[in-house]
Amino acid sequence: MSAQAPIKRITVPQIADRKGGTPIVSLTAYTAPMAAMVDAHSDFILVGDSLGMVIHGLPSTIGVTLDMMILHGQAVMRGSQRAMVVVDMPFGSYEESPQQAFRNAARIIGETGCGAVKLEGGTRMAPTIAFLVERGIPVMGHVGLTPQSTNVMGGFKTQGRDEATWAAHIQDAVDVADAGAFAVVVEGVMEPLADRITDAISVPTIGIGASARCDGQILVLDDMLGLSGRIPRFVKKFGDLGPRTEDAIAEYAAAVRDRSFPGDEQVYR
Ligand code: KIV
Repeated sequence: MSAQAPIKRITVPQIADRKGGTPIVSLTAYTAPMAAMVDAHSDFILVGDSLGMVIHGLPSTIGVTLDMMILHGQAVMRGSQRAMVVVDMPFGSYEESPQQAFRNAARIIGETGCGAVKLEGGTRMAPTIAFLVERGIPVMGHVGLTPQSTNVMGGFKTQGRDEATWAAHIQDAVDVADAGAFAVVVEGVMEPLADRITDAISVPTIGIGASARCDGQILVLDDMLGLSGRIPRFVKKFGDLGPRTEDAIAEYAAAVRDRSFPGDEQVYR
């Protein structure tokens, strides 16, 4: 009897090599069962700090902790076999110094076994990204609309409406890529600016509310399935599971109340 070879996970260099190639598919997941469903279809799974809003009912991603990210990262690693898993560094876990970022990124990688971390910020985070990459931590960047900075930005606002700001956004992406990020999420920017960013950097761009010309796309799974309450305008829904879930719950409740719910005699007959 021959032992089955373990399924190999997609690696960081394999994602980096997809610049200008077959578009990279990615989705978020926060739990083992959802990760298992996403695994076969995605090149990487992001354990995004959006889990604070989607799963924990927080008003923003600001209150998400390192322990929350590690717990969900472990679940997603257990549920998946093939896709690379990237875990977000939450607000307050990396901005203070490169040393703080290294300590916390090492905890995420060590305690979850994930392939890479993602952190938000452009030029200002470049020295931190270089510090992590030089010490063996693969980093995915995140520029444009960075939800952890919405208090400074004044809300979830599409970036690059004013062409005068484009140069700074492009420089952000260039500095993050030059610092060693293997891919860069480009969120919530005007399409022509997203295209300029894709053309300006040599690593893949992963768009969300950006441009179909990005090297890959990501969506928050619950938004895409129609399960979240407040869905950003740019999200194309590929399912409508919210109302269907509510219908199933209502059907169950009615069955219990009118005693048509199967009793032991039916189930175990
Ligand atoms: O937290 C998250 O889900 C993200 C994606 C929206 C890119 O960062």
